[in-house]
Amino acid sequence: MLNLKVDSLFERVPALKEAGVKVARAIHEQVLAAGEPVREVMDVLHGTWLGHPLHPVLTDVVVGAFSLGSLFDLASLMGGGSSARRAADVLTAVGTASAIPTAITGLADFSAIPRGAAAHGLTHAAANSTALLFYLLSLAARKNGERGKGIALSTAGMVVVTAGAYLGGHLVFSKRVGVDHTERVTEPQDWVAVMNEGDLLQQEPVRTEAAGNGVLLYRSGDRVLAVGATCPHAGGPLEEGAFYDGCVQCPWHDSVFNLEDGSVVHGPAIYALPAYEARLRGGRVEVRLAKPA
Ligand code: FES
Repeated sequence: MLNLKVDSLFERVPALKEAGVKVARAIHEQVLAAGEPVREVMDVLHGTWLGHPLHPVLTDVVVGAFSLGSLFDLASLMGGGSSARRAADVLTAVGTASAIPTAITGLADFSAIPRGAAAHGLTHAAANSTALLFYLLSLAARKNGERGKGIALSTAGMVVVTAGAYLGGHLVFSKRVGVDHTERVTEPQDWVAVMNEGDLLQQEPVRTEAAGNGVLLYRSGDRVLAVGATCPHAGGPLEEGAFYDGCVQCPWHDSVFNLEDGSVVHGPAIYALPAYEARLRGGRVEVRLAKPA
């Protein structure tokens, strides 16, 4: 199968993975060092506000415009006339213009890419940057009246962008980048005891299980807060994270979640954690799934 061949190809070039990890980490560290305003911009780029990764939404615009542009180029070569030429030029320009914000959102996602997908992500970015260069040169050639050269350049861009899009799909469907890494939790609807009260110390997070799902418990004063224990971004163990201001920060790529309701405070995570109600009864800690707000 092609996807397995792609993976074994990347495995044969470990330097690519190391380079990808290094670049991603360098960007991520700059983001963390820059503080709250930059993290908020990154949240917009990740799509935290949308509840869905923003990058694949924008890639549809780019790939759609370039594909249609190629069809109109073909139509113009087959005698489609000036309207086909004009449509091809406009679509090439739309695709090129929308490729820039798309690349920025891709770079934001790449900054927190899991290690196992870093080589794929770096190659995806390189392919799409190369395609963008072809399209910029194509636009320039079209503007100078060198139509044949412009079509040749955008055709080369289309070939490269198709390879980049394939890798983008592989990143999502095979490497599981951008998908929700938590289970769809529907239980327990009723209170269940999950541990002894005496084992849950103040501000000492504990991972336990309820109805087969990981639950993170955090005791603060008289209250016990309970949310899903697995980070939706890439499956990070939240009990190993940092706890502050009523939030937990994932140890892997620093997503921040509210411990009250599991909502995302900062990405790269897009999806909220399952939220639980928790109480102390008869020396036991009990939880049940919180009703949706
Ligand atoms: S696993 Fe990436 S932020 Fe948690």
